Amino acid sequence: MATKAAIRAEKLRELLEHHNHQYYVLDDPEISDSEYDRLFHELRALEEEHPELQLPNSPTSRVGGAPVDSFSKIRHVVPMLSLANAFREEDLVAFDERMRKLLEKSEGETIEYHVELKFDGLSMSLLYEDGKLVYGATRGDGEVGENVTHNIRTIRSIPLALRGKKLPKRVEVRGEVIIPLKDFAKLNDEQAKRDDKLFANPRNAAAGTIRQLDPKIAASRPLTAFWYGLGTCEGATFDSIDHLQQTFSEWGFRTGEHRKVCRGVSDVMKFYRKIETLRDKLEYEIDGIVIKLNSLKELDQAGFVSRAPRGMIAFKYPPRQETTVIEDILVQVGRTGALTPVAALRPVRVGGVLVSRATLHNQDEIDRKDIRIGDTVFIQRAGDVIPEVVSVIKEKRTGKEKPFSIPAWCEANGIEFERKGGEAAFRAVNAGGELLIRRIEHFAMKDAMNIDGLGEKIVEQLLESKKIQSFADLYRLKLADLLELEGFKEKSSQNLIASIAATKSTELYRILFGLGIRHVGERTSKTLANYFGSIEPMLKATEEQFTEIHEIGPEVAKSLREYFSSKEGAAEVKTLLKYVEPVAPRKGGGAGALSGATVVLTGTFPTLGRSDATRLVEDAGGKVSSSVSKKTTFVVAGSDAGSKLDKANELGIEVIDEAELRKRVGQ
Ligand code: IVH
Repeated sequence: MATKAAIRAEKLRELLEHHNHQYYVLDDPEISDSEYDRLFHELRALEEEHPELQLPNSPTSRVGGAPVDSFSKIRHVVPMLSLANAFREEDLVAFDERMRKLLEKSEGETIEYHVELKFDGLSMSLLYEDGKLVYGATRGDGEVGENVTHNIRTIRSIPLALRGKKLPKRVEVRGEVIIPLKDFAKLNDEQAKRDDKLFANPRNAAAGTIRQLDPKIAASRPLTAFWYGLGTCEGATFDSIDHLQQTFSEWGFRTGEHRKVCRGVSDVMKFYRKIETLRDKLEYEIDGIVIKLNSLKELDQAGFVSRAPRGMIAFKYPPRQETTVIEDILVQVGRTGALTPVAALRPVRVGGVLVSRATLHNQDEIDRKDIRIGDTVFIQRAGDVIPEVVSVIKEKRTGKEKPFSIPAWCEANGIEFERKGGEAAFRAVNAGGELLIRRIEHFAMKDAMNIDGLGEKIVEQLLESKKIQSFADLYRLKLADLLELEGFKEKSSQNLIASIAATKSTELYRILFGLGIRHVGERTSKTLANYFGSIEPMLKATEEQFTEIHEIGPEVAKSLREYFSSKEGAAEVKTLLKYVEPVAPRKGGGAGALSGATVVLTGTFPTLGRSDATRLVEDAGGKVSSSVSKKTTFVVAGSDAGSKLDKANELGIEVIDEAELRKRVGQ
């Protein structure tokens, strides 16, 4: 007879697995982390007190049990096959034609295809008997893989027991273990902090983690998995891939987002293109889509060719990692003097874009990856971020590669530099040359002072000829000064003088942003302008006073204080103010009326477009956020407002309309 402890332990296991499923598969937690921890600790205490209640598939095994000595081998019941690839639309059309012939389809008949994402991870097979996880095995050579159950159990989105009543006697579930991009970046940051090896990409990180003997490592890493295929299956039948994957969801697995049943090749192409545009927004890496005959009967009929099912094909996207050679390393000087090393690459196409530069971030990064001029490297473009060097292919070294150091570069170029404690970047300290060009260029840019026609080349000319040496000098320029310069005609000189003069009266935040104070971007400048209304009080404000402002952190406050109290900074501002008159932010409810507020916009507004509404909120010192949470100050709802409005009501957050928003910002 089951004891009270056994009954409670069973109940706790059920509860914990239910909440794991809600959190890790459905992304819809029902209880707080601390409540979950309480249940977890209760179960662990019970298991410690009654060792006979300890089961291999207990949720307590998810934190990682004892290490294994080695990986045992597992023969897959049904071998794990591979996929044929398509790279162009023609390949897909040819595939469809093959299928039509094979399945003896008549002229007007289209084939039903199941289309889904091709996850770029590590393939995995899970065996469940009577609904219980027996083992997890890697693909290996397709016939025999390695037993990695100890690590698989730590992946919380994988059910330790299948959900539902009518479960198969024995089933092999196939899928892909991955690490989402954001978690991957965090993982590499942590690796760097500990001075551990960096992973080249999420797939390598997932594979490296699954091959660890100690499951505590896997438990500490953000693995998850998507499930899409079947090996052996006794005691359940399916009629289509769609039916199969739907059943996987019901059993408690994560299945791919965006999967769809298509009719014919043109539908499949539409899906391919749609996913291509979505690719950068996905939370994980994919390298293509997979197209499968949806009907399992037809798949069976299509058979196999060289260890791949003939009725499936992977349609790949261009890779976003490529190899090329670092021809040189250059150093960019930022507006605050930060020195950023940049690799000049032998041009190469990555994901359809020609790339000839990649950021090397800073000296630490160069040292950690041991990057040298002449190295053959992997470079990657993820999302729309600047291309970066992933790793060096050391096997390709010839011995002629040259190491690179920013201090040595500075010395060679006569640049004085510094590196403050705790900072990754070296900074140029002498404000001459390159740095002044960058600062004036920044001052003139569209989002700052917006001086039309004052680009890099002209700034260089003006500095070189000593016509200007500071921001204020721009306002002292005379027509005759410009006419002395090469390439300047009467008309172009007049235009430049006019566009400089046009900025003599401008919004305060533009001047602040234009000064190029470290950590003070456009948004912070707007916050400061709204708060202070003029520059003078900022010259006197203490670090503490700055940090009292919502959204201004200690780092920004320190930088502001440093700038305004430095002799150069204070003088720069005072001289500039002789020529430029700041227009204070709008008064009458507008300025700072929403200072510190977090606002969510939803639905369609009667007169304002989405970007107008955003500007209205931001100009009044508020912040626009895309999701409703407890931190939301209020929600502005228009017609057709959907789930955000529901969420606001659920959380008891104030909801207003466009008219009320206008009132609050004084419009
Ligand atoms: S079906 C017969 N569907 O791609 C093999 N595979 O290049 C059945 N993969 O080994 C594979 N996402 O590891 C299938 N949605 C998906 C997939 C997928 C990723 C992997 C899988 C396979 C490899 C083949």
